Amino acid sequence: MADKSTIIFYFSGTGNSYHAAQSLSCLLKDAQFVRIVFGLETYNLASYERIIAVYPCYVGDLPLMVKDYLEHLDFPDGAQVVSVCCCGGIDGSCHKSFERILDKKGSSLYSSYTLVYPANNQLLYPEPSEKTIDTRYATNAQKLQEIASNLKDGYQHFADYKVLSASIFSLAHKFFDPHKQGRRFKVSDECNSCKICELICPAKNIRLIKGIPQFLDRCEQCLSCMHRCLKDAIYLNLQSRIWGRYKNPYVSTKDLMVN
Ligand SMILES: Cc1cc2nc3c(=O)[nH]c(=O)nc-3n(C[C@H](O)[C@H](O)[C@H](O)COP(=O)(O)O)c2cc1C
Ligand code: SF4
Ligand code: SF4
Repeated sequence: MADKSTIIFYFSGTGNSYHAAQSLSCLLKDAQFVRIVFGLETYNLASYERIIAVYPCYVGDLPLMVKDYLEHLDFPDGAQVVSVCCCGGIDGSCHKSFERILDKKGSSLYSSYTLVYPANNQLLYPEPSEKTIDTRYATNAQKLQEIASNLKDGYQHFADYKVLSASIFSLAHKFFDPHKQGRRFKVSDECNSCKICELICPAKNIRLIKGIPQFLDRCEQCLSCMHRCLKDAIYLNLQSRIWGRYKNPYVSTKDLMVN
């Protein structure tokens, strides 16, 4: 029996959500998968029976660009809408936010899943160890299989909503201003003007002017530029000067290039 026609939208900074989206695309028989980047046009979803959004959690909530993109989509009546959060341990209010968007459109979530990936916020804490990376990928490989089987078998699943951590993170989220924060990135003399940061930014927020990266005002704080710069030249605070970078072992820099 043919599986449902499926489209997977994903947003990814450092590749974890890319990994989840690509794995699901293969497991669901080559479902179409589309990256949410600045300027992505709104898709007509009329011919899709299943719509999946895969995204990282940023301070307990959806990335701004994901929220905005989902708000602009028309979800067909009866389509199964699935939320997949790829967090570093605390998914906060991500699925609730998604639910709220759907609610306003008279639609609802069919299922929600949280996958715990290596945490990439090296503005706040050190880079994940190799052991953590290996363990989390091994667990997620199994979980991704389960998600695909559940969807094929028509079994619904809802990620636990952890009220306490969600409330704490929702307070913190009020102070999270990625657009403003993005303008504070600095570039060290190590920069060799290779342009990788410009080519990789999903918000198209970086322009090299006279060989020096300049940051515009639509940063998502995905940290792709910081982690993938081969010279470790991009940093924001003292911690990001000291701590290492996170390279998703299954995703190349080329995979993350926009266009
Ligand atoms: C600015 C920022 C905020 C984050 N906030 C959270 C958070 O609230 N909870 C969490 O579990 N992980 C958090 N993370 C970690 C990411 O959600 C996690 O590493 C994710 O898998 C990254 O996905 P990506 O590689 O597709 O960009 C944060 C990361 C960044 C860069
Ligand atoms: S990726 Fe790094 S080295 Fe390349 S242009 Fe950007 S800051 Fe410079
Ligand atoms: S400027 Fe860097 S952190 Fe901000 S959205 Fe672009 S790649 Fe991500």
